[in-house]
Amino acid sequence: LDSHVSRRLGTTTSAEKVDVDKTHQAVCVVISDVRNIRKSYFAIQEEGQEQAERSVLISCPPKFSEERFLKHLSKHGDISNYFFYYSYGIYAVVEFSNRDSIASMKESSRIPIVQHEAAVPFKSRLFSLKSTGALNQSDSPNTVKCQQHAPLPINQLTQRLSKEESMDRQLQSLMEAYQLTEDNVRLRFLVCSLLRDIAAAYFPECTIRPFGSSVNGFGKLGCDLDMFLDLDAISGGKPKKSDSGLSLEYQVKRGASERSVTQSILSVIGECVDQFGPGCVGVQKILNARCPLVRFSHQPSGFQCDLTANNRVAMKSSELLYLYGQLDERVRCLVFTVRCWARVHGITSSIPGAWISNFSLTVMVLFFLQRRSPAILPTLDQLKDLAAASDKCVIEGNDCTIVSDLSKIKLQNNTESLEKLLQEFFEFYGTFAFNKMSLNIRKGKEQNKPESAALYIQNPFETSLNVSKNVNATQLERFVALCRESAWMLQQGEVLKRGSAQSSGSVPPWGLAALLLPSVAEGAGVKGRRKRKREPASERIKSLLDSLKSNGGGKKNQRS
Ligand code: CTP
Ligand code: MG
Repeated sequence: LDSHVSRRLGTTTSAEKVDVDKTHQAVCVVISDVRNIRKSYFAIQEEGQEQAERSVLISCPPKFSEERFLKHLSKHGDISNYFFYYSYGIYAVVEFSNRDSIASMKESSRIPIVQHEAAVPFKSRLFSLKSTGALNQSDSPNTVKCQQHAPLPINQLTQRLSKEESMDRQLQSLMEAYQLTEDNVRLRFLVCSLLRDIAAAYFPECTIRPFGSSVNGFGKLGCDLDMFLDLDAISGGKPKKSDSGLSLEYQVKRGASERSVTQSILSVIGECVDQFGPGCVGVQKILNARCPLVRFSHQPSGFQCDLTANNRVAMKSSELLYLYGQLDERVRCLVFTVRCWARVHGITSSIPGAWISNFSLTVMVLFFLQRRSPAILPTLDQLKDLAAASDKCVIEGNDCTIVSDLSKIKLQNNTESLEKLLQEFFEFYGTFAFNKMSLNIRKGKEQNKPESAALYIQNPFETSLNVSKNVNATQLERFVALCRESAWMLQQGEVLKRGSAQSSGSVPPWGLAALLLPSVAEGAGVKGRRKRKREPASERIKSLLDSLKSNGGGKKNQRS
C-alpha cells in the first residue's frame, strides 16, 4: 500500500526512506479517499442532475456581445456558471442559481412564427438568441471564447505525445487530452435533463440518467451518450397504512412482460422525441434488440444518444467501472491508451459490428490488471465478499452486490510502470489461449469457455452472458496480431528511443506515438498483408517474441 499511497500523493516510494508518521498519515488519506468513492459516484449523479435542472441551452448568432448576453439573462436571476462551445454554431450553457429563473426566462420567451411551416408549441429549455434591434456603436459584438468538445485529431495527439519525456508521461498525456472535461459532462447531464422534460409529459416523476462512458471515468471526448429512463420513483414506495382498512391503487394498463412494457414506453417516448424534441434528429427505435433502445442525434450538443429503460444492470456496471478506475490511477491511463490504440488501427469502430467494443476492451484491461502479480485490482468476488448486509443488491435475479465501505479493500503493493504494463498487456493478449479460455473479472481468472464464441468475456453481473458475443474470429485475430506486433516493437526497443527536436520544434514519433502511427502497422504487415499473409506474419512475430523472451533479450538488454 505504501507505494500505492506514494504514487497517488506524488511523494517518495516505500523503497526510499519514508517517515513512519507520514506514511501513516498518507495511508489514512488514501483510505478515506477510497471510502468516499462510492458516495461520490452517487454524489456526481445527484449533483450533475440538480445542476442540469437549473440550466438552459442557447443557440447563439455568430457574433454577439457576451456582456449584453449575460446582462440580458441576469434579468431572470443570478447566473452561477456558464460556458460557450462550438458545434456547427455557437451554443451557451447557462446555469442559474435558482430554478425559478428558468420559469421567468420561459415567460419572456416566445414561440417563433415560422413562414410556410408550422411550429410545435413545445416550450423546452433549448432557446435561440435573437437580436431585436440595432446594436449600439459602443456595444459592438465581440467574439466569445468557445470551447471545443471534439477530441484532438490523431496527428496532433502523436505530436503532443512525442514531446513528452517518458512513455509513462505519454500515457498520462493521452488520457489528459482525450478525457471528458467537466463542462462536457455538464452538457451530458443537461441533454439528459432536456430529454426528461419530454418524457415527463407522460411520467412526471421520471428521471433520465447518463450511464456508460459518459460517467464511468473512461469516456473520450465525442463518445456517445447512454441514457437510462428511470421510472422506479413511480412504482417504488410502500403505501401508508390506513386506519380505515382501505387503500387505493392505480388502475394500470398491463403488458405481457417487463420487456413488452419497456418496448411500448420507449416507442411512445421515441415518437415524442422524434415529433416534438427540438434538436433531436434521425430518431430510430431499435425495440427488438436485447436491450430495447431509441437512438437519435442531438444536434445542439453533437451527441449521439442511446435512450434505454429498465437497464439497471448496465447502471451498476458503470458504477463498478468507475470504482475500478478510481482505485489506481494507472487503470484509466491504460484503458484510454488501449482504446485509442485499438481505434487508430481499426480494431474498434464507431459503428456496431463483429468487432471488439470499447466496453469489452475496458474489461480486458481490468482482467489483465487483476492478473498481475501482485494484482493491481481486486476481483469482483472480493468486492462482493467485503460487502455488508446493507450493500446487498439484486437486479432481475442477478447478484450485483459490491462493497460500499471501500476502506475494507486492501490494495497490493504493485509499482509497475505504465510502460511495463502496456508492454505486458500486448504480450498477455498476444499469447492468450482465446480458443479455449474465457475472461472472468468476477473470479479474476481465465476459465474454460462455456460456449464456442471467438472471444468470451463474462458479463460482470449478468454472468450467463458474454459481453463480446458479437466478435467473430477474424476480428479477434486482428486484435491478437496487432498485440503481437506492438509487443514486438516494444521489445525491439528502437521505438523507445526519443529523438531530439527538429528545427520546427517537433520530435519524431517515438514510444506510444510510434505505436499509434497507422503507417507503422501497415508497413509491418497487420493491415497491408491482412488478405493473404496475416497469419504467418503474426505467427512469425509471436515466435520472434518468444525467442527474445527465452534469450532474456528485448528492450532492457538493448538499452543497457
Ligand atoms: N454494456 C453491457 N454489456 C454490453 C455492452 C454494454 O453491460 N455488452 C453496458 C456497459 O455498462 C457500458 C454501457 O452499457 O458501459 C454502455 O455501452 P457502450 O456505449 O457500448 O459502451 P461505453 O462503455 O459507453 O463505451 P463507448 O465510449 O464506446 O460508448
Ligand atoms: Mg457509450
